[in-house]
Amino acid sequence: MKYEEYGLGNTKEMLLEANMNNYAVPGFNCDSILQLKAMLDAAEVTKKDIIIQISESGLYSLDIETILEIIKRKIKYLKEKNNKIKIALHLDHAKKIESIKKVCLMGFSSVMFDGSNMEFYKHIELMKEIEKLTKEYDVTLEGELGIIFGKEEKNITKTMQYTDPQSAIEFITKTGVDSLAVSIGTSHGIDKINDWNSEGKLKIDILKEIREKMLNFPIVLHGASSIPEREIDKLEKLGVKLSTARGIEDEEINKAIVLNVAKININTDSKIVFFRALREFLENKKTDLEIRDINEYVKGELEKYYIEKINKLTKNIK
Ligand code: 13P
Repeated sequence: MKYEEYGLGNTKEMLLEANMNNYAVPGFNCDSILQLKAMLDAAEVTKKDIIIQISESGLYSLDIETILEIIKRKIKYLKEKNNKIKIALHLDHAKKIESIKKVCLMGFSSVMFDGSNMEFYKHIELMKEIEKLTKEYDVTLEGELGIIFGKEEKNITKTMQYTDPQSAIEFITKTGVDSLAVSIGTSHGIDKINDWNSEGKLKIDILKEIREKMLNFPIVLHGASSIPEREIDKLEKLGVKLSTARGIEDEEINKAIVLNVAKININTDSKIVFFRALREFLENKKTDLEIRDINEYVKGELEKYYIEKINKLTKNIK
């Protein structure tokens, strides 16, 4: 299989391992080489597995060949250093079958098909077709059931629908997906305390009900950034007001991890750190025109964030 040739990890195996050991693998969304290098270095330092996620629009606008080359080089280097961590490359929120075909051929480890707004049985039929395709390449397949509120890239979902546990079990059994993203109160973007979840609590009962029937099945949590308060405070001092920005507390995330949540998707947190670091640099070093200095500072701040997040999610919760 192509992803193995590149030394990339098998996402399904990484998620099952996380489930068995009560931790979650971070799924970090990546929009730039700077982020990529910061997350790879953070994985090296912490010696923990990570999943690098490319969005469907990123697949067509980023230089994926270069991204793959950088990842391959890092994996080779880690092997030489006897660092045994696994790194997977994942396509996030795909809506087009051609995108899934493309990444299977390119050597991604896994894909998520987002059919969350489809009619249930049509969704199952389509997912069965996608599963045949991904299985051919041994690519891990993530599905989604329920509707998650919020802003994911340029798409805004204005409604929310919790995942129905019985439907989730039927969906998993009939489609053969390897993992399932659920809607239990998280939302994409900066405002996670909102009309749909005014207390920031997760619907843990949904996870319990799925787990009763599917003991070790990996569940995925989207919209799970924690929106660190210190970042919002720093931005405020720099003149940027994000007063409604609130994330999901670590305590809630930990409750989910012991109930089979094996991957936590994070995009917004790293965008916030990126922009805070960039603004901070430009504010504090008004006459420093060295692009390398700016890159180094932003990358360093991102790496610190990733290290902290990886350590939080991958410590055995029980
Ligand atoms: P956040 O907006 O909470 O970072 O969620 C990102 C996500 O779920 C990507 O799939």
